[in-house]
Amino acid sequence: MTRTTLIAGNWKMHGRRADLAFFNEIRVPEAKSLKVLICPPATLLAASAEAARGTGVLVGGQDCHAETSGAHTGDVSAAMLRDAGASHVIVGHSERRQDHGERDCDVRAKAEAAQAAGLVPIICVGETRDQREAGEAEAVVARQLAGSLPKQANAQHLVIAYEPVWAIGTGLTASVDDVAAMHASIRKHLPDPSNTSVLYGGSVKPGNAAELLALVDVDGALVGGASLKPADFNAIIRAFGGQS
Ligand code: PGA
Repeated sequence: MTRTTLIAGNWKMHGRRADLAFFNEIRVPEAKSLKVLICPPATLLAASAEAARGTGVLVGGQDCHAETSGAHTGDVSAAMLRDAGASHVIVGHSERRQDHGERDCDVRAKAEAAQAAGLVPIICVGETRDQREAGEAEAVVARQLAGSLPKQANAQHLVIAYEPVWAIGTGLTASVDDVAAMHASIRKHLPDPSNTSVLYGGSVKPGNAAELLALVDVDGALVGGASLKPADFNAIIRAFGGQS
């Protein structure tokens, strides 16, 4: 089994150049199987890559366009992210699916564009509260995976993030049992299940990171709010890194 643990921070629409001192405060353990990633807003990507140099922290994008270049005002391509220093890109985050109407087929096209540009796509899936309450969580996520996974689903160039929509930014976390069940279910739908890293995201914080990693099918975290605070992000890295 060659799964990498990935602790990924998603800064969303937060961050100014004055915040780049953050990178000097992050401590990355020297475990070969652990990667630490920050996805700043596109305006900060190149400067973040520079600020992260020598710290062991990787940088990534929060979204990309499916095409390499063209008349797409306001968008950035995967190749541009790569050029700015990115190693990964988040695609299909629920905020993109909700705010920008992204469908599974859009997410797949973006993931394929990311791979073609040499980036690892972090494909987000997750059910809404209504879907969970209706008992549809596993079916919804299976459908999202079926529609969003790139055709070349090489496990080394692909990360999945399970993020229940109702747990994002709300302080609510799925129960350990629910996360275990969802991750086991997700793995069944992956072409290379034992080699593909599957992260959990949704109100991950220092206080719950260790119990989430203890689950065999959880290979790291996608962290929003807590990735803005170096002390919290370091504590999450330690909780996961200590086990690798
Ligand atoms: P949160 O965000 O940690 O603030 O809940 C997670 C995410 O949206 O990736």
